[in-house]
Amino acid sequence: MNLSLDNLEKLLTTRDPVLVEDLFAEACRVRDEVYGRKVFMRGLIEVTSHCKNNCLYCGLRRDMHCTRYRLTKEQILQCCRTGHELGFRTFVMQGGEDAWMTDERVCDIVRSVKREFPDCAVTLSLGERGRESFARLKDAGADRYLLRHETADAAHYARLHPSEMRFEHRMQCLRDLRELGFQTGCGFMVGSPGQTLETLKKDLQFIAEFRPEMVGIGPFIPASGTPFEHEPAGSVELTLRLLAIIRVMHPRVLLPATSALGTLHPQGRERAIRAGANVVMPNLSPQDTRSLYSIYNNKLATGSEAAESAADIRARMKAIGMEVPTERGDFIG
Ligand code: 5AD
Ligand code: SF4
Repeated sequence: MNLSLDNLEKLLTTRDPVLVEDLFAEACRVRDEVYGRKVFMRGLIEVTSHCKNNCLYCGLRRDMHCTRYRLTKEQILQCCRTGHELGFRTFVMQGGEDAWMTDERVCDIVRSVKREFPDCAVTLSLGERGRESFARLKDAGADRYLLRHETADAAHYARLHPSEMRFEHRMQCLRDLRELGFQTGCGFMVGSPGQTLETLKKDLQFIAEFRPEMVGIGPFIPASGTPFEHEPAGSVELTLRLLAIIRVMHPRVLLPATSALGTLHPQGRERAIRAGANVVMPNLSPQDTRSLYSIYNNKLATGSEAAESAADIRARMKAIGMEVPTERGDFIG
């Protein structure tokens, strides 16, 4: 398939449904060649809703007056126990940039999880940190790290973030993670304010050069109380095309069907899988903290219990002809 810059523009803007179907079919073909008809499950654990940053788009930004929480190590381990029982072999610990999450604390959590579940991968998603800090987390046993780059265009980055957040630092973090041996994930929102065809092409170019092991992309969804609360949500259609393009560009990449897609469309995640995605991330967070982790409005909370969301997702994936294996689902290098 032709993925030259000219053709990318065409794939992103065409109104020809045949062209789009061809793109999706090609994405599934290359995915199945590498991974087979498998969708990997990751258990998402939202470990802290405290954040020192003030990203303009996010419902957990510093200026939001909301009830904040942190999970204890014991609560996190309890989520993992439930998840392991349900067949999860990757735990994703995600949170805001919270100074309380010192290297010591995070390393202790990672070691405890790895000790109790040596057959599982640990993914961290705790925002920007220094290289030394990343190195300690790696030594403690963390396998993967997700840090969306948000946009590969510096001016667009500055429109989405306050000036104390530096585009260069974010990119440096991604390079550090990669060099330290993490399976590294970048990504961006589709339809964030100020995004254009030009900034999207830069995102795709960045992904083509950086070759991350994972790419998280989902539509922007306005969050009440943020500076972008009245901005329109991103397009589901455009998100699906971008997923497919990324899959064709980078057949081995681990590509989640994000909850943001599931939030905007009842079949959003199934459609993402049909566009080439191969990862789903049901929520394993405790029931009472789940609604407090509100990065955007109406965040999907299917089946308020872990068991329910896992069963729901499994059934949805099987219904579209995919297997959901009990495996770590590592990047195939
Ligand atoms: N809509 C969609 N995605 C969002 N994120 C943050 N706020 C929103 C929003 N309003 C995404 C960002 C961040 C990830 C954890 O969630 O891309 O990296
Ligand atoms: Fe904090 Fe992440 Fe939200 Fe930015 S996107 S405010 S870093 S939780």
